[in-house]
Amino acid sequence: MAEIRIRNTDERIQGEENVRAFLENQEVLYEHWNPGKLAPELQEKFVLSDEEKAQILSTFEEEIRDLAGRRGYQTWDLIALSDATPNLDELLKKFEQVHTHTEDEVRAITAGRGIFIIKGTDDVGYFDVELEAGDVISVPEHKPHFFTLMDNRQIVAVRLFIETEGWIAHPFEDASFQKA
Ligand SMILES: [Fe+2]
Repeated sequence: MAEIRIRNTDERIQGEENVRAFLENQEVLYEHWNPGKLAPELQEKFVLSDEEKAQILSTFEEEIRDLAGRRGYQTWDLIALSDATPNLDELLKKFEQVHTHTEDEVRAITAGRGIFIIKGTDDVGYFDVELEAGDVISVPEHKPHFFTLMDNRQIVAVRLFIETEGWIAHPFEDASFQKA
């Protein structure tokens, strides 16, 4: 289950109801899939063959099609990142820049962990959403954010797109953003 940390106050928000209420207030979609549906050998695997990727996507096909049907996503794929990923450090450096998109950014975590850092309403400021397997999040279009890995540095996630071509990161320079 996702957990929130508000960067200005270090306050943590835990528990499904509280997390849902907070994210709803911030206009961030949050849902949950059952990660136990995945074959046990794929629940902790972060280097995946094309066949394994297809198996994961077909395991969650119903959830993916339901989400896509409700929200208009046309295509989806699966990304896997871990220390086995070439140039992971360089990739993360690129990830860790606050930016916006004209499309929302959807991630459904099927294994591992990840974190979205999102600019909330003025009274809240930046907050972290720590995600684990089963968590599904959509950061709304035009909302400043970035995504990175957590300490274990491994994740598998489904990404859904309305239009892959339109999905470009626009840097968002923000003096009020505090790292860490
Ligand atoms: Fe993004």
